[in-house]
Amino acid sequence: MSTRIGTYLSTAADLLRGGDIVAIPTETVYGLAADAFNPEAVLKIFTTKARPSFDPLIVHIGRMEQLGCVVLELPEGAERMMNVFWPGPLTLVLPKRPEVPDIVTSGLDTVGVRMPAHPMALELLSNLDFPLAAPSANPFGYVSPTTAQHVADQLGERIPYILDGGACNVGVESTIIGWEAGEWRLYRPGGVPVEAIERVLGVSLSTAGGDPSGVEVPVQAPGMLESHYAPRKPVQVGDLDELLKAHNGQRIGMISFSKTYPVHRSEVLSPSSDLKEAAQKLFAALRMLDASDCDVILAERFPEEGLGRAINDRLRRAAAKR
Ligand code: TXA
Ligand code: MG
Repeated sequence: MSTRIGTYLSTAADLLRGGDIVAIPTETVYGLAADAFNPEAVLKIFTTKARPSFDPLIVHIGRMEQLGCVVLELPEGAERMMNVFWPGPLTLVLPKRPEVPDIVTSGLDTVGVRMPAHPMALELLSNLDFPLAAPSANPFGYVSPTTAQHVADQLGERIPYILDGGACNVGVESTIIGWEAGEWRLYRPGGVPVEAIERVLGVSLSTAGGDPSGVEVPVQAPGMLESHYAPRKPVQVGDLDELLKAHNGQRIGMISFSKTYPVHRSEVLSPSSDLKEAAQKLFAALRMLDASDCDVILAERFPEEGLGRAINDRLRRAAAKR
C-alpha cells in the first residue's frame, strides 16, 4: 500500500466512511482514526499498531450532541470540565453506552472520550456522522508522533492516508481522568495541567499508590504500561551533572530544559524555560536522538508542576526497562 500525506479532508472522510483507517492531526499528537461504531474498522487500528486488544481506545467527538451516543451518564463535575477544557487535551473516562463496540473499550463498561482542539480534526469530525476511535499513531509502546512525517516514518506503508495538520502544538497526549467510586482520579498526566482541573473541580484529584509519579495505574487500564513512549536507545532521567559523570566517555544525546551542554548531541527544549514549549518539542527530540548515533539518551528531570508533570511521566516511561 502506498501512503499519501495530504491535506484533503474529503479524502480522509471518504476513507473513514468506507471503513478504513486514517492518521489525523490533533493538538496533542497524531491519532490513528476509524469509525468508532464500526468494529471491523477499529480492528484495523489494533493490527496496524500491533496494539494488544486489552488496551482501550479514546473516542473523539466533534460536537456535544455526539456525547449522548457514547456515554451513559455524566458524573458530578463532568459538564463543568467539558465546558472549560473542550475542545482540548482532556479525556474523561465515563460509563459507556452499550452501543459502543467492545473492541473500542476492551470490554470495559467505561469509555474514554474527548473533543480535540485541532481545527482540521474538528472540521473532519463535523463532516462525519460518527465519532472517531483513535489511539496515538505509533507502533505500540513507541514515542507518539507529533508530525505527519513521524507517522509516515513508522506506519507509512500500512496507512492509506495521513492527514497533515502540521506540528502538534501541545505535543504530549491528553490528560486522562476517570470517575471511580464517587471521585475523580488521574490516570495519565497530559496536556491539561492537573492544577487547572483541580481548580475547576474544587478538590484534589486522587492519585494514591506507590508509583513514583504519584499516578496510580488503574487495574482495568493496562494501557498505562510502565514501559511506554519508549525509544530504542537506553534513556536515563535525573540530574544532568550526575548523569554526565556516570556516562563519562560515551556518546551522549541530551535532552535539557533550557541549558546547553557540551555533549555529542544536545536538544534544548526551551531556552526561555517555558514548560509548554518544552512539551511541544519533547517527542521530536526523543525521536531525533533515537535516530542519531548517540549511545545513550540523558534527560533532565523537569519541575513537577503544570506540563512538567506530563513531561516527567513520559520520560520516566521512556526510561523504564522493557
Ligand atoms: O492525546 C491523546 O489522548 C491522543 C490523541 C490521538 O487523542 N490519544 C492517545 O491515545 O494518547 P492512546 O490510545 O495512545 O492512549 C490512550 C490511553 C490508553 O493507554 C488507554 O489505556 C486509556 O487511554 N484508556 C482509554 N479508554 C480507557 C478506559 N475506558 N478506562 C481506562 N483507560 C482508558
Ligand atoms: Mg499511545
